[in-house]
Amino acid sequence: MNTFELYEKHVNPGLAGLLRFTGLDKIESHAEGVYVWDTEGKRYLDFLGLYGTLSLGHRHPRVVEAVKTQLERMPMSVRVLVSGPTARLAARLAEIAPGELSMVYFGNSGTEGVEAALKFARFYTRKPGFITTQGGYHGKTLGALSVTPKEQYQQPARPLLPGVTVVPFGDAQAVEDAIGPDTAAVILEPIQGEGGIRLPPEGYLREVRRITRERGVVMIADEVQTGLGRTGKLWAVNWEEVEPDILVSAKALGGGVMPISATLCRPEILSIYKTEPLIHSTTFGGNPLAAAAALAAIEVTLAEDIPARALQSGQYLITQLIGLQKAYPEFIQEVRGRGLLVGLEFSDADIGAVVVAELAARGVLTAFGLNNPKVVRLEPPLIVEKLHLDECLEALDGALKATQRAFEGVL
Ligand SMILES: Cc1ncc(COP(=O)(O)O)c(C=O)c1O
Repeated sequence: MNTFELYEKHVNPGLAGLLRFTGLDKIESHAEGVYVWDTEGKRYLDFLGLYGTLSLGHRHPRVVEAVKTQLERMPMSVRVLVSGPTARLAARLAEIAPGELSMVYFGNSGTEGVEAALKFARFYTRKPGFITTQGGYHGKTLGALSVTPKEQYQQPARPLLPGVTVVPFGDAQAVEDAIGPDTAAVILEPIQGEGGIRLPPEGYLREVRRITRERGVVMIADEVQTGLGRTGKLWAVNWEEVEPDILVSAKALGGGVMPISATLCRPEILSIYKTEPLIHSTTFGGNPLAAAAALAAIEVTLAEDIPARALQSGQYLITQLIGLQKAYPEFIQEVRGRGLLVGLEFSDADIGAVVVAELAARGVLTAFGLNNPKVVRLEPPLIVEKLHLDECLEALDGALKATQRAFEGVL
């Protein structure tokens, strides 16, 4: 069996089938910056960036160097001594976080970060209920899945957490109406990623903040995908100068080299640690290797003003995409996004899938939203340059022409 067949047999046959359909039944070999190569030597422009993880591109030299140095010294913490990189990272995050988010819990993935946020909200309020938004995506462990209202993922896993109310995204009044005596927290993404790059109306986050503060409900901002510059500000909540009670960061935090999540909390939310220090813990969370990567990633993000670069590149990309939309109005229904979190909504999920496959054939990697397959998202590394954006746009034009030929007479 070749490597792809081994994956198909032993890891995920359904996903292997999907990859085959999009022409991506290939084995990755190595990566650098915005490019990835497969074992046959084909080069791909990475415009998916591991769903927003590779903000600094693949193998950013300063992150790699920091990880190598830590690897030579001490990759894992013994836990009964304090890890320097972990403590320093927590302090650095507290400095750059919005408002008073000065306590940090470290995990290894976005869903773990969300899981912690949900539990901390319960510890603090002593209430069980959560409010989440339609189209929201917060992960797939049981707690996070309970606030990820997608029937296809939830149904086979039931029973999930009780007491979850789902409200339309972008509707602050609906949040207010849904708050009851048992509500612990509201969880939302400042911009929905997997839900199809959906931006709420201006003022939504501020309104939710006002309501949750007045009603004594914890506001959890899930910035797993939007955080660390993706939308053109360091945090997407900064667009409305909102200070949530809990902010979850992951993906880009590890600099594209290590997995790590951070659940940043107002200090009173984590006051339980004073009396119950082991109430929530994990062996690997914030390990020295991941913490070293995150410290380097934060420094590069700030030193190179990565959020400003994302904003500028995003403006160019979105303008050019709107031009393409005019050329292919039968396919592209809407172009939307902020910074380099960009979505193309197609008239039909099948058309989006063909475009993804045609882009892959032209050496550009993209994907559709997990909660909205009509939307193809473009989430390149934030270090992309104009020539990479143009390379993607040219491939997209070719992919759309090929899609036109494929659907000739059908539409
Ligand atoms: C907003 C958001 N929250 C949580 C998650 C879950 O993160 P992970 O896949 O690392 O568990 C994701 C993943 O895409 C996400 O986009």
